[in-house]
Amino acid sequence: MELSTEKSLEIFNSMWHPLCHKSEVSSPGQWVCLPHSPDDIIVYNDRGTLICFDNVCPHRGASFVETYTGKGTLVCPYHSFCYLDGGLRTGRHKPIEAGSKTKVDLNKYHLDNIGDMIFFSPNPSIAIEEQFTSEVRSQLTEIASKISKTYDENISTFECMAVLGVENALEAVHVNSVHPDSLARLNLSTGTFDRLGLCSSWTSEIQDKRTGRAFNAIGKMIGLNVKKTYKNLLLFPFSMISSSGGISYSLQNFFPVTDDTTTFISRLYPDNLCFSNGSPVDHFLSSTAEINRQVFSEDAGICSKISKSPKKKLGKFLVQGEERIAWYREAFTHETTLRGIN
Ligand code: FES
Ligand SMILES: [Fe+2]
Repeated sequence: MELSTEKSLEIFNSMWHPLCHKSEVSSPGQWVCLPHSPDDIIVYNDRGTLICFDNVCPHRGASFVETYTGKGTLVCPYHSFCYLDGGLRTGRHKPIEAGSKTKVDLNKYHLDNIGDMIFFSPNPSIAIEEQFTSEVRSQLTEIASKISKTYDENISTFECMAVLGVENALEAVHVNSVHPDSLARLNLSTGTFDRLGLCSSWTSEIQDKRTGRAFNAIGKMIGLNVKKTYKNLLLFPFSMISSSGGISYSLQNFFPVTDDTTTFISRLYPDNLCFSNGSPVDHFLSSTAEINRQVFSEDAGICSKISKSPKKKLGKFLVQGEERIAWYREAFTHETTLRGIN
């Protein structure tokens, strides 16, 4: 499979991607903004109606917001025009061209949902039910029913193509060499891999006794039956959700920018039960967030070392434990062929 930015962007633009949890934008004025390049992706509660757009003011192009999340009227910092109730309000500043409207719309993207997870697509050519099998949708719906707000957001750049960032996250062969002091400490078993349409999942046992004891203690504290398993669900094409023990869930997006640049956005969503208790849980969540950040930074480091030569990027040589990569490449080829971009 040969890669190009054009192919990745075509797949990005025409498919669905997880954006956030419904409860993050449940009140009027709330937004979630995923930083991206050239333009961010925003979901905004416009007086009860969710809209998704590119964070570009239709006047002269300034960004409306800078933070991952917030609440308030969308006021552009450049000339203070605001976006309200379906249009840009320019106040006393009348348009120069005769007949042009004062209500100018945003560059909007499409929204859909699976359970309480909100998805977006710039220009979808596939239905969300077609992209994600009923099994994937039911797993996601169950996860989304247990979470609501984020505990941590982590945004960085991977210096590699998005597909390579995803591939790296689909195998555990690199864990001991790249994550010796973080992920490797969980002592994960070989695990099982399930093909789920274009997606796939991997479930593995956490064999580290110390982590097991910590999970038992947290489970008792919050009244959760904590399984000592690590699970990773690929949400084809550029996202995944993973969890250790089901205490918290890490949602990761690898959005393509160029041949050598990927926007990486991860969010840590604790099980809602974690929020109803005191500081010991908070301590556990802060150490989970810290370890996750370390793992992602180690992944970013190794991914930046992958050859930038397109021919070397996707060699056919794979080893045991990399079966999900083979499946991912098949799915990617299938989707690019469908769109006539192979
Ligand atoms: S660029 Fe936004 S108000 Fe002018
Ligand atoms: Fe990794």
